[in-house]
Amino acid sequence: MSAATKEVKRITTHVLRNMKEQGEKISMLTAYDFSMARILDEAGIEVLLVGDSASNVMAGHETTLPITLDQMIYHAQSVIRGVKRSFVVVDLPFGTYQGNEMKALDSAIRIMKESGAHAVKLEGGEEILPAVKKILSAGIPVMGHLGLTPQSIYKFGTYTVRAKEVDEATKLKEDAKLLDATGCFGIVLEKIPAALAKEVTESIDVPTIGIGAGPHTDGQVLVTHDLIGLTKDFKPRFLRRYLDLYSTIRDAAQQYMADVKRNDFPNDREQY
Ligand code: KIV
Repeated sequence: MSAATKEVKRITTHVLRNMKEQGEKISMLTAYDFSMARILDEAGIEVLLVGDSASNVMAGHETTLPITLDQMIYHAQSVIRGVKRSFVVVDLPFGTYQGNEMKALDSAIRIMKESGAHAVKLEGGEEILPAVKKILSAGIPVMGHLGLTPQSIYKFGTYTVRAKEVDEATKLKEDAKLLDATGCFGIVLEKIPAALAKEVTESIDVPTIGIGAGPHTDGQVLVTHDLIGLTKDFKPRFLRRYLDLYSTIRDAAQQYMADVKRNDFPNDREQY
């Protein structure tokens, strides 16, 4: 088989489950547009999350609450066009699934049909179980999200670590088991103590993907804008920045501006 016709082995929920069983860590990053999705897919990242964090890093909102289903679908369509191998999960945005299982199903179907994405993610445990079941009944893979769930920020009041107290930790453990038993293919654990994340990871069959949840989860996720340093003021302890693109881009823009102003751009070779 020539390189041109060589088939890419796509990541599926089964691949992710096998990775957990084999002890191979899963890498997941957010993507919201074609160009970034193509780079991350080529890099080999197994799961791309079209996160509702697009509300923050793409649209500049303070929270994830304002982003709409139409906007999430637009981002998901762009990401899907850039992907050959990665598994693409899309967040159901705030107000499109809570308290109404039929609405949840309609929202999930719109995402799958209009974007070509592979799965949806919902925030919450027992309280959203009817919605999870309904979506699963349509054959749509569902990922859970427990711990710090940013769509509930006004209930929590802060973005600090969740489930440090026994009651909340107990509920989180029960919720993880419920989501697993219901048929979710994976669960994001956000900003919870590492020991709790370890216990949850060992107690369920499906992969856990942590963000600020320590090293014992089956995989890790970060917001790509944070990883590459496009965001500037967000500095939680769990974040490792691999680049400082904010400064790099600002410096490039300033060099360009200087070249334009002294009539050095375009030069003889950069014109027709
Ligand atoms: O929206 C998002 O980016 C997320 C990750 C932080 C897990 O849900």
